Amino acid sequence: MATDTSREAAWSLVCEWTESDSLRRHMLAVEAAMRAYALRFGGDVELWGLAGLLHDLDYERYPDLADGHPRYAMRELSERGYPEELVRAVASHADYLEVPRESAMETTLYAVDELSGFILACAYVRPEGLHGMTAKSVKKKLKQPSFAAAVGREELRDGAAELGVDFDEHLEFVIAALAARSDELIPKSPSNAESRATEDGRTSSP
Ligand SMILES: [Fe+2]
Ligand SMILES: [Fe+2]
Repeated sequence: MATDTSREAAWSLVCEWTESDSLRRHMLAVEAAMRAYALRFGGDVELWGLAGLLHDLDYERYPDLADGHPRYAMRELSERGYPEELVRAVASHADYLEVPRESAMETTLYAVDELSGFILACAYVRPEGLHGMTAKSVKKKLKQPSFAAAVGREELRDGAAELGVDFDEHLEFVIAALAARSDELIPKSPSNAESRATEDGRTSSP
């Protein structure tokens, strides 16, 4: 099997396995957040970015958490020659696999995963999208249980705590990381904004 682990090859793989634009955007968002945090924490920007981009590779094909996601992704990525630490990070973002998060890359992936989905959901229902979004406005949405209801509020707070970053600061940081790549993350058409938000809440990864 090919051992091309470039960003370009990873994106091709994501597109091959994932047809949903919503899920592709989620993976791009997590990539953006991972790259930003890698710069801040002195991590390997390329590796952290790839972990974000690939973490839900198999979610569309194998959504059953009992025997599917992310096990197929882990196998595929190992066979394709991705580093063991990336494969382990993919495993550790799924709590139910009980792979403890040990590296900074792993705790960061967990901390930005659901949050990136939630922030995109917020952006879809704002005319300005990600631009000018504040931590305060995201926290307001967090207090509405029906908004992106599938995103566990506790998990978001736990993720930031594990990371050792103040929750508000974490929100601001991830908003900024996503806003920098707004063109890729926010669909051009303004229609169905509310239903997209709901859909993203549901498809954001477990
Ligand atoms: Fe995810
Ligand atoms: Fe996932």
